[in-house]
Amino acid sequence: MNHTPSIPVLTIDGPSGSGKGTVGQLLAQRLGWHFLDSGALYRALGVAANRAEVDLGDKAALARLAMTMDIHFRPRSGGDVVDVLLNGEEVGDRLRTEESGRRASILAAIPEIRLALLQKQHSFRQPPGLVADGRDMGSAVFPDAILKVYLTATPEVRAERRYKQLKDKGFDVNLRRLLDEIRERDARDAGREASPLKPANDACILDTSQLDISGVVERVYGLLRERHRPG
Ligand code: DC
Repeated sequence: MNHTPSIPVLTIDGPSGSGKGTVGQLLAQRLGWHFLDSGALYRALGVAANRAEVDLGDKAALARLAMTMDIHFRPRSGGDVVDVLLNGEEVGDRLRTEESGRRASILAAIPEIRLALLQKQHSFRQPPGLVADGRDMGSAVFPDAILKVYLTATPEVRAERRYKQLKDKGFDVNLRRLLDEIRERDARDAGREASPLKPANDACILDTSQLDISGVVERVYGLLRERHRPG
């Protein structure tokens, strides 16, 4: 149950590489709202499971770990980078690898884990507001959000964005392989039974293939201002 409905939430969902993370962080900064990167929760659980040597088939132990892991996001000033603290240790770079995304996508298909992470996600809803990015933020986690945005882009555009992002961070990446991984992950995220990747019925769908990040931020900010004025 979500007990804080009066605090406004903006949800930004979409597939991997749609730009939702960067757009979400920039909007959170502009609005002075909190930010939830829900994918990082699933990714961090993969790291925590690895460290605790919990088998990816042991659903009960994974759900326990999901409930007890301590995770915080700490924005770095002046940019769109957020440090991710798992049990006090910065793990941001480890979470951004494709292997971490693959593990997260496997964990995210387990209903017990989605349930265990629900309360943790609700706890990010703090005044003055929350920008939440993920796959099911508008459809399942924050159904009463004041604005639900669903960002899409073609798999080719998303693979190129991911390629640039990872290259800039010094990772050794291959565009063809990234495209295959994106398609594989899309199929798993959209095909699973528990909260599959799909826009909420009342979401605004925005194709970002032809837009740059600032264009998307402006569009979403405009939509939000039509519905919400700070009190
Ligand atoms: O957004 P991301 O690439 O960091 O997400 C990693 C994986 O976690 C992704 O394959 C799907 C899953 N995920 C999810 O199922 N629900 C969310 N709200 C966020 C992420």
